[in-house]
Amino acid sequence: MIASLPGDGIGPEVIAEARAAVDAAGTRWDFKVDWVHYDLGADRYLRTGEVLPDAILGELRHADAILLGAVGRPDVPPGVLERGLLLRLRAELDLYVNLRPVKLYQGVTSPIAGATPETVDMVVVRENTEGPYAGAGGGLRRGSPAELATQDSYNTRFGVERCVRYAAALAAARAGRLTLVHKTNVLTHAGDLWQRTATEVAAGAGVALDYAHVDAACMYMVTDPGRFDVVVTDNLFGDILTDLGAAIAGGIGLAASANLHPHGPDGDRGGDGAAPDGDGPRQAGPSLFEPVHGSAPDIAGTGRASPVAAVLSAGLLLDHLGEADAAKALESAAVAVLPEAGRYSTRESGARIAAIVAGVQEVQEVREGRSGV
Ligand code: IPM
Ligand code: MN
Repeated sequence: MIASLPGDGIGPEVIAEARAAVDAAGTRWDFKVDWVHYDLGADRYLRTGEVLPDAILGELRHADAILLGAVGRPDVPPGVLERGLLLRLRAELDLYVNLRPVKLYQGVTSPIAGATPETVDMVVVRENTEGPYAGAGGGLRRGSPAELATQDSYNTRFGVERCVRYAAALAAARAGRLTLVHKTNVLTHAGDLWQRTATEVAAGAGVALDYAHVDAACMYMVTDPGRFDVVVTDNLFGDILTDLGAAIAGGIGLAASANLHPHGPDGDRGGDGAAPDGDGPRQAGPSLFEPVHGSAPDIAGTGRASPVAAVLSAGLLLDHLGEADAAKALESAAVAVLPEAGRYSTRESGARIAAIVAGVQEVQEVREGRSGV
């Protein structure tokens, strides 16, 4: 079962097209997709006060994967849905890797002069359960001139190590290069933990480890993106860096992401897969796939949203479920409609993508505008 959580704003519009692309792949490669729709998001919250009821969380734990659109709407206070739904799912399902490819596709214009698909091709592995996102902190004397607020960054050896292990395994499978991005010159406590862990893990995995402070990394992403292949970083740095990554790869409308709880040899390392407190082997739970973009309430309902990021995210989902050919088909179909961005509605682009995935139409025909769709 694949849980579909379209959410708010343009979420339902782009998820409908991503689902159509997955279904087309299922027909072609002969796998069956059993979608279950969940109406979580602003509407449900405003109607019932519920953000993520326990019963639904319980059902989601049994899904094979989750496809999420976007959450958030101006009539819901900021943070309610983001923290209560998206961040809660990341935490409850222990989705400790946020995998964000930064890839400039052929035919897409980068704001960086001279950028090519060869130079902008990296993957950011963002730690996804700790750092400042753990929600630790507190306040005193709220509203008074002497108000105090703290927001702590939690970094555990366990959390850092499993994330870096995933990144190192990915680096070994790609160019053998891993870059740690942090701020070790200022965040000396957390930075030291990340640095030592990355050094040990990279050596064990046989990959070359490079390091950049996060501020310098922002600069290099723009001036010399080719220096990065696999980047591993903490939750907040990764959040910021991947918006920059999306921008250099042609815009947030194209950026896909996978929130993973990796299983198998690359995930849950440490012998028996047990957490350090010895609570026994972890249950294999679902991973969650979502476009990096938000709900874009300003264009919701206009048909102007691009379904590309959602389709690319669904491609990551299929890859995760072992449907590698179907995953590649979704990626190349989504990429094929990129040069015509802006010319077609969400629905039309989705139909063109699904037709290519189904094999009804050749990529070349779509590129040349010889489309019957
Ligand atoms: C993202 C988003 C989320 C985050 C928000 C919506 C909580 O910006 O997925 O990058 O900060 O992680
Ligand atoms: Mn973000």
